[in-house]
Amino acid sequence: MTTGATAPALPPLAARMADIESFYAMEIMREATALEAAGASILYLCVGEPDFTAPAAVMDAADAAARRGETHYTVALGIEPLRQAIAGFYRTRYGFALSADRVAVTAGASGALLIAFGTMVNPGDEWLMPDPTYPCNRRFVSLYGGTTRLVPCGPENGYQLTPELVRRHWGPRTRGVMIASPSNPTGTTVAPDAMRGIHAAVREHGGALLVDEIYHGLTYDRDAAGRFVEERTALELGEDVFVVNSFSKYFHMTGWRLGWLVAPPSHHKAVEKLAQNLFICPPTIAQHAALTCFTPDSLAIYEARRAEFAARRDYLVGALRSLGFGIPQVPQGAFYVYADVSRFSSDSFAFCFDLLKGAGVAITPGRDFGDAGAAAHVRFTYTVDMDSLAEVVRRLHNYLNR
Ligand SMILES: Cc1ncc(COP(=O)(O)O)c(C=O)c1O
Repeated sequence: MTTGATAPALPPLAARMADIESFYAMEIMREATALEAAGASILYLCVGEPDFTAPAAVMDAADAAARRGETHYTVALGIEPLRQAIAGFYRTRYGFALSADRVAVTAGASGALLIAFGTMVNPGDEWLMPDPTYPCNRRFVSLYGGTTRLVPCGPENGYQLTPELVRRHWGPRTRGVMIASPSNPTGTTVAPDAMRGIHAAVREHGGALLVDEIYHGLTYDRDAAGRFVEERTALELGEDVFVVNSFSKYFHMTGWRLGWLVAPPSHHKAVEKLAQNLFICPPTIAQHAALTCFTPDSLAIYEARRAEFAARRDYLVGALRSLGFGIPQVPQGAFYVYADVSRFSSDSFAFCFDLLKGAGVAITPGRDFGDAGAAAHVRFTYTVDMDSLAEVVRRLHNYLNR
């Protein structure tokens, strides 16, 4: 038997790897699973994906597609019926007329971001993003030789960029702004007026605006009649806006690896070429199954689950506040609560480990999402059922009053 023990030395890792950090959440996960294996009861509030799965009809459609042999490559931008269905969704949900020609189906929002930044970022370019932000965004820019300027965003602006902040931080090498609304890790949104102002500020500088709408459909404000208020898509600001979205969150299909990118017509050919070269095509079976996401029955299921997330948010925010966590603004969406723990600790990373060991509750430290408020904040994910949330709150209460 050979062991491969004397492998020859390889060239050193590419220099860019020095900028790419692991998720600290994974360190919490590693510790949590070790404690669980040793018999501890752990509640996981650190995973950024819905606990629900795709509806049965979507799974049946995947099964049928596989059996029909829909398992070959498709065209790089995705099958035409799915591009049409996504465009149709913009018409019914947002009242926005989107041509299917502008839709590129991708391997998740991650694939969309890799392609979008690939068409825009030159070495040395700088992009503005809020701090805190979803960590992978910075990696996409750095993979293409660009840099990210993280702009500290506090609770006064819902931890989001404003037109004023964009103007103030725009530098000679800045080429664009990326925003997620609702955001990971804060669940907060950028109001339509502020988004319009940011777009105007970006245009003044001849830059690009990329908006991640992956948590659309998971917002919980209601109108006077008790219906969820629909978001506005940043696409309505103009053809120059890039929007990414995904089947991962509202449609509960994280592992199916399907999302989409709507790019300006000027970038369409570049998007197609990159999609061909990087991915060949998005996952075929998932594409066929996703057609079933837009039926009235499936949409009714998603809306019922949205109501469930809304109830969880309301419960968790109220309970955390009464335990002393700082949550200055109720997060409008996603399934995250970004909470200030400075009343309990000056080191949120240590707080997370201590909470895990002392109470069996796994949450994510702020340092995964930036620098500015990192030591003071943690992220709770409410992707567990109400009974589990109640147990989390009970454990937190005992832990904080021990
Ligand atoms: C803000 C944000 N954008 C993009 C992604 C990537 O999602 P996908 O599964 O569609 O690649 C995530 C995943 O957590 C996210 O939170």
